[in-house]
Amino acid sequence: CGIIGYTGHRPAVPVLVEGLRRLEYRGYDSAGVAYVQNGEMSVLRAEGKLASLEEKVAGVSHHLATTGIGHTRWATHGVPVERNAHPHVDNSGRLAMIHNGIIENFEEQREWLKERGYHFNSDTDSEVLVNLISEGMKADRSLPEAISWALGRVEGAYAIVVLDCTDPERLYAARHASPMVFGKGVGENFVASDIPAFLPYTREVIFLDDDELVELTPSSWRVMDVKTLEPVEKTIDHINWDVQAAQKGGYKHFMLKEIFEQPKVITDCLAGRINMQDMSVQLPELESLAAPKRLHILACGTSYHAGMWGKYLIESWARIPVSVEIASEFRYRDLILDEDDVVLSISQSGETADTLAGMRRAKEFGATIIGLCNVVGSSVAREADHVLYTQAGPEISVASTKAMCSQLVLLYLLAMHWGRQKKTLPDDVRDNAVKNILALPTVLETELPRLRTRATELSRLYSASHSFMYLGRGFQFPLALEGALKLKEISYIHAEGYASGEMKHGPIALIDPEFPTFALALHDELFLKVKSNLEEVQARGGRIIALTHPGLDLNVTDPWIIPELWGPLDSFMALSCLQLFAYEVADYLGKDVDQPRNLAKSVTVE
Ligand code: G6P
Repeated sequence: CGIIGYTGHRPAVPVLVEGLRRLEYRGYDSAGVAYVQNGEMSVLRAEGKLASLEEKVAGVSHHLATTGIGHTRWATHGVPVERNAHPHVDNSGRLAMIHNGIIENFEEQREWLKERGYHFNSDTDSEVLVNLISEGMKADRSLPEAISWALGRVEGAYAIVVLDCTDPERLYAARHASPMVFGKGVGENFVASDIPAFLPYTREVIFLDDDELVELTPSSWRVMDVKTLEPVEKTIDHINWDVQAAQKGGYKHFMLKEIFEQPKVITDCLAGRINMQDMSVQLPELESLAAPKRLHILACGTSYHAGMWGKYLIESWARIPVSVEIASEFRYRDLILDEDDVVLSISQSGETADTLAGMRRAKEFGATIIGLCNVVGSSVAREADHVLYTQAGPEISVASTKAMCSQLVLLYLLAMHWGRQKKTLPDDVRDNAVKNILALPTVLETELPRLRTRATELSRLYSASHSFMYLGRGFQFPLALEGALKLKEISYIHAEGYASGEMKHGPIALIDPEFPTFALALHDELFLKVKSNLEEVQARGGRIIALTHPGLDLNVTDPWIIPELWGPLDSFMALSCLQLFAYEVADYLGKDVDQPRNLAKSVTVE
């Protein structure tokens, strides 16, 4: 899931291992490196975390190798064991390759190769691909020609880097539907699946597009079309994040750091986007686009919950009908779309395979695509007709927190923007919306430490539970889903999010003293309804934590009283509480908060 390739003047292996460490946030279950020393290919691989690979690395001499490739794998084909870890070497031992993505027709290709005498040591599609390249070289093709030939035979997604032990200072990297960036250094060059891998060495990057191949040596690089091998002109981007931004900064986990960054994230998202003179929202990215007649929001996971929240607001302020779609469902449906439809693809990483596939399908119908992404230059960003960047900065923890916060800010701005265009947003609401969101970062910043204290207290009381119900309605319903998802993801406690009013149609049967409920019972027009839903829970002996506002008449086991803000902005405070509660439970239970088992930060496979 994380890729790095290095060719330069430094000992390569430490550069690779450190690079992989900075990509750990992508989630992985095995890791490996390959390098050439004295003309011989060496491959070191280990199951589990990087520390296991480092132990192996420490046991051998590798200091003369100045070129190499490194990989962290998140299993897609074959179980997460060492023989399936990357790099994979071809049968002749000449080539080593790392690969992200999935080769869909690998079984067919494997059979074809077997007929030609190849044997396989792993269950992976990647080992098939490296042997296919090797087979391609037999017909007198050069390595780039063989790569081009082999990639022409496979279907699916890939980002690959190939190392050849007969030409040990040269790497080739290619991509199709999996991310890959090139880093241009001085006397050294890099490729990686993501920028943090090489950020300590260079800030000059080139985002490779689909079907491009880059050849790199310590002193040269060129990008080619993978099919024709004709040169492709590329522009170099300068990245100005610092590595600090990708480090924990004193917090125990990235997730906690990222939750506490939310006030700053809100400020960054708002920067330059509000004109105080006429209280208008400035979204120049959408200048040429009229307010849509219908909007389809497309996303997965946490981004999907942000989309659901956005629906309530966009419908209310801009009177645009909004459907919110799980991308993996949308992509295979018999869609009804035309040129008048606008699709908003929400994706933190901008690389989620289902979201990308869904938006590509929508494009076929002529729909206009707006990308709402955090990662600059990501695939969603590049393929959308209009892009809004959320400005949350790199999110390292696998469980998304600050990215969702930033998505909510952008959805809020979008609802205002379209509401103004359509004259459906009354001036007084607009003025309040602007005034209150500008004040939000300071309020949240002041409250966060107190919220954490309460989350810690409650985590001690509730972390022995095996199941949780999360309830909310209106704006708080998507938050209930998100609260449940956070708890599941990082503490492995089962949790279900439900619309409070729907509870009586089934889930209430689960309630007993061992099955607690986390309720969102904030001061809004549905409060009394929520209150009676909760009374039904209590009548069945269920314990309740309820996020609520001062002065409300609510009698529950563990009230969690938070300051009341304004309208939809209450969701931001509530979101922080849900995140902190899940965090404190998981940390108390000693779970791997930033890298929960079985999860990946960016799911670039279907
Ligand atoms: C993965 C992550 C989730 C994330 C989802 C969508 O499952 O673990 O945290 O919400 O992908 O990711 P995206 O980058 O498209 O927002």
